[in-house]
This record gives sequence, C-alpha cells and structure tokens, in this order.
Amino acid sequence: MLVLGIESSCDETAAAIVRDGAEILSSVVASQIRTHAKYGGVVPELASREHLRKIEPVVEEALRRARVGVRDVEGVAVTEGPGLIGSLLVGLVYGKALARALAKPLVGVNHLEGHIQAVLLENQMDRRAGKPVEEVRLPAVTLVVSGGHTSLFLVEEVRSAGGSRPPVFTYRRLGQTRDDAAGEAFDKVAKLLALGYPGGPLIDRLARGGNPQGVDFGRIKMKGNPLDFSFSGLKTAVLYRVRGTPLALEAEERRAWLSGHENVTNDELRSHCSQATLDLIASFQNAVVRDLVERTLAAANSAQVDSIFVSGGVACNSLLRSRCLEVSRQQGISVLFPSPGLCTDNAAMIAAAGYYKLQAGERADATLTAHAALPLGAGG
Ligand code: KG4
Ligand code: ZN
Repeated sequence: MLVLGIESSCDETAAAIVRDGAEILSSVVASQIRTHAKYGGVVPELASREHLRKIEPVVEEALRRARVGVRDVEGVAVTEGPGLIGSLLVGLVYGKALARALAKPLVGVNHLEGHIQAVLLENQMDRRAGKPVEEVRLPAVTLVVSGGHTSLFLVEEVRSAGGSRPPVFTYRRLGQTRDDAAGEAFDKVAKLLALGYPGGPLIDRLARGGNPQGVDFGRIKMKGNPLDFSFSGLKTAVLYRVRGTPLALEAEERRAWLSGHENVTNDELRSHCSQATLDLIASFQNAVVRDLVERTLAAANSAQVDSIFVSGGVACNSLLRSRCLEVSRQQGISVLFPSPGLCTDNAAMIAAAGYYKLQAGERADATLTAHAALPLGAGG
C-alpha cells in the first residue's frame, strides 16, 4: 500500500511516499530554519505562511522523487496534532482535500506516534537492505525528545491470530515534561549564550571542546511522578551562571559578531567561545543527557522491558546516543535510534504510522481537524 504522509506541525513542511509502512520511496523536508533563525525561535505566524507557500511544491516533489503519480497513492496520512495550530491546519486541510479529490482513505496521525514509528520504520529499512539490525522487542519504552516534547511511552503491539495482518500499536504515557522540552532548553540556552539557532546541534558540537564536569548542576529533582521531566530550572541555573559575569559580556560580543556573519562554521563559532563558555555548555548538555538517560532507564526497569527506543530531534545528540549505547552494553538492554534524518520532523514517519492505522480499518471523515494539544494513548 502506497501512503502519502504529510507533516506540518512546527517549522518543517514535509511530504513522503512510503510503501507498506516499511519502504521510503521519497521523503522531502522543507526546513524554515532560515526564516526563524533571526528570532532565535519559531514564530508561529511566519511558520503558517511558509507552510502555505511550500505545501504544494513539497508534495509534488515527494511524488516526483518516488516516481509515482498522484493517482497511485492509496492512502493519505496527515499529522493532526500536537503542534502549532496554524501550521497543523495547512498540512491537514491540504491532505484532506487531496484524499477527497482522489477518493482515497484518509487518516489523522499523532505527531508523537510518528516519532515512535520512525524507529520501527528505520529498523525495517535496514533489515530489507541486509544491514545488521537490533531485534525489535516489544513492549518497549520510548523516549520522544524534541523541541516541543519530552515524554516517555510504553509501546505495545497487538498481533492478529496467525500474525498475517500488520500489528496494531498501543501507547501508554509514563511521564512527560512539566515545563520546557529538552530541545527547547537546548535552544533557549543557545539563545542566552548567543550561539545561534537551532541550539541543539550547535551545543552538541561545541560541547566536545568543554569539560562536562566543569560546572556541577546537580541532579534534577522531581516531586510526584519520577518519570516526569523538568528542564526550566536547569535553564535558569545557566542564566545565573552567566548574568553579571564576563560570560555575559562575551555573549554580547558574540551576538554582535554573529549578526554580521552568515554561514558561520563550527571552528569560527568555537574560536569566539572562551573555555569557560565551552565548559558551561558541556556541563549543561551533560546534565540534560544524564537526566534523560536515568529516567528512561528507570521507566524501562519499572515497566520490566529490555528494549528502549529514542526518537525526536534531540535523539540526534551525540552524547545521548553514546550514553544510551553504553547502557545498552552494560545492562543488556537493546536501544534503538532512527538515523538523524528520521529523528527530526519528517513525513515518512507519519506515512508509516498512518499505514498501520489504515490497515486496521481506521478512517478519518470530513470532521478531522487539528489539535494543538493532542494526547497520545492512555496514561497520567
Ligand atoms: O523533532 P524536531 O525536528 O522538532 C520537534 O518536534 O520539536 O526537533 C527539533 C529539536 C530542536 O530543539 C533542536 O535544537 C533539537 O531538536 N536538536 C538537538 C540536536 N539536533 C536537533 N538537540 C541536541 N543535540 C542535537 N544534536
Ligand atoms: Zn517532532
């Protein structure tokens, strides 16, 4: 079954053609980073406008690269939430109209389910390509960690008798952030230190030159559910380390320098950072990653599973990946990550998630609409 996936929940306009939830024929992502970079964060009104400009060419490009005609599409899957409402509506209305015009089934997909399905999609692609792959063992605990989300889910599959039909997936939320998402904390700390946007990849690279033990941020304490997250305190702790110190002056100088330069290389940026700034960055990243890994492990232990998935933009982080692999080796837990292109927002993950829903007979009707805060699965 050929599914067209459409994703527009934040600042990426994306479309993809995926066969049977397992083979990506095309995946096109139009990023708006340049539009939002000068504001140091996503500006919702500008995002909607960009999606409107890009949605049609991006879908056309996805069809062209997949070498399929629009009439070959057998189902349409669109992100229905969570995300920016104006952005979501652009992709959703486009997908809805297209499905209607083609008289093909339509299904709404939760963006977080997409991130989770990216792990399974990648695993199937690698298996088909004959690459050595980790065995997918469900149930699994999944950490979805991005600019908008930091949540832990228990993922299970229900297989039909005889296993002849594709499985149906169920999700239970185990914990989530109470304030900032981890990616948001990376972006805000980068903004505070005038490093550029988006902050996650920049901090990831700069941290390699810093001492992760340079600043002791301590552990993040949570009252109530120990599988919840909170990163706003850490961000404020960074602010206190900077405000009124030479680091603030240095950040202002960097801001002025950056405003006059485009396409700054890593080495150039690094040469404008003191060792104290690099140590602060490395220590901040270390504190975030340690917290993510410890809570994810705690979730796996309490759910008694030996399989962990990590997905979302922050899953590109090199320290998070290496720490998870260390845990995997030490504790015999399998840890699966999608490749970076499938970690960040894309429509292939939406098409894959939509495929399983369509196969299970799920159909959206004309009432399908976007929801800024759309929960995934049961759970408190
Ligand atoms: O999944 P995504 O593309 O969009 C959302 O759904 O939010 O994630 C984007 C987020 C941004 O906050 C970005 O700074 C972060 O992922 N990110 C990273 C890295 N690459 C992207 N954070 C830490 N380290 C990275 N290497
Ligand atoms: Zn996302």
